[in-house]
Amino acid sequence: VAIMFRTVSQAFRGLHCSSVPLSARMFNKGADNRSLADRVAVVTGSTKGIGFAIARRLAQDGAHVVISSRKQQNVDQAVATLQGEGLSVTGTVCHVGKAEDRECLVAKALEHSGGVDFLVCVAGVNPLVGSTLGASEQIWDKILDVNVKSPALLLSQLLPHMEQRKGGSVILVSSIAAYLPLPKLGVYNTSKTALLGLCKSLAVELAPKGIRVNCLVPGIIKTDFSQVEKTMPYLQPDMNELYGLQRFGEPEECAGIVSFLCSPAASYITGENIAVAGFSPKL
Ligand SMILES: NC(=O)c1ccc[n+]([C@@H]2O[C@H](COP(=O)([O-])OP(=O)(O)OC[C@H]3O[C@@H](n4cnc5c(N)ncnc54)[C@H](OP(=O)(O)O)[C@@H]3O)[C@@H](O)[C@H]2O)c1
Repeated sequence: VAIMFRTVSQAFRGLHCSSVPLSARMFNKGADNRSLADRVAVVTGSTKGIGFAIARRLAQDGAHVVISSRKQQNVDQAVATLQGEGLSVTGTVCHVGKAEDRECLVAKALEHSGGVDFLVCVAGVNPLVGSTLGASEQIWDKILDVNVKSPALLLSQLLPHMEQRKGGSVILVSSIAAYLPLPKLGVYNTSKTALLGLCKSLAVELAPKGIRVNCLVPGIIKTDFSQVEKTMPYLQPDMNELYGLQRFGEPEECAGIVSFLCSPAASYITGENIAVAGFSPKL
């Protein structure tokens, strides 16, 4: 992971500006925006990090949100936190790589009003730092199962329940690693590049059904997954030179675009891979 950040930093060295402190007031909490009222959203990997921020934002914007991740205690805690904020959320355990868990997630989502409008596939893993060609078949299977196959399989289970409603929207979560392959993360990079293609294919397939599919492409976001501040403080000076905005992203900064992509305001947007990275590394 250290190599990942160093490599990205090197790729963008030369962009020098003063650091701009981030205020929580920068985030639009959506308190008076109820554009998703009466809608139901399923968000995988949503008990912390980017998924949790997205779940909170969709609920703030009026949706009923179904929280999920692998661990019951994480689900309970996330649900309690958001319900404590007066938001409409429920939750269930769902390891996205397990078919039976996906079925439970679908059933939980249908409990609210018998249908689903939005699916946001955030859950992703990276169990390997090492050579791509040295990766075992088990590693390949795990990363591709969780990161690439599970969004498609979960969507296939939800689709009959989304088709009944108007204005369905699906958001996949890729990474800048999809565009800028990072050494020692080759299998993960490949899985995230595959999601860009999955987004395009699903967008074309589901357009006749009126369901839009887009892909969020985060840069480096401050979460446990990136572990930037805890484990790699020595990289901070380099990271200050990294992107146009000269800082890492906050999970909440990935949430507004997802709410927008679910909303009627995005009704003519599908098949797009959209970077939230402080500066897009796309060539
Ligand atoms: N942070 C970044 O810099 C960054 C950059 C680009 C892309 N991304 C992508 O963003 C996504 C979320 O990352 P994050 O930084 O928010 O991670 P995070 O803070 O570590 O949160 C991961 C969440 O996913 C859940 N989870 C993990 N494996 C799961 C599985 N197999 N099935 C269901 N839930 C699972 C975790 O809860 P449990 O432990 O309870 O399962 C947790 O709620 C990932 O797809 C990642 O590749 C992150």
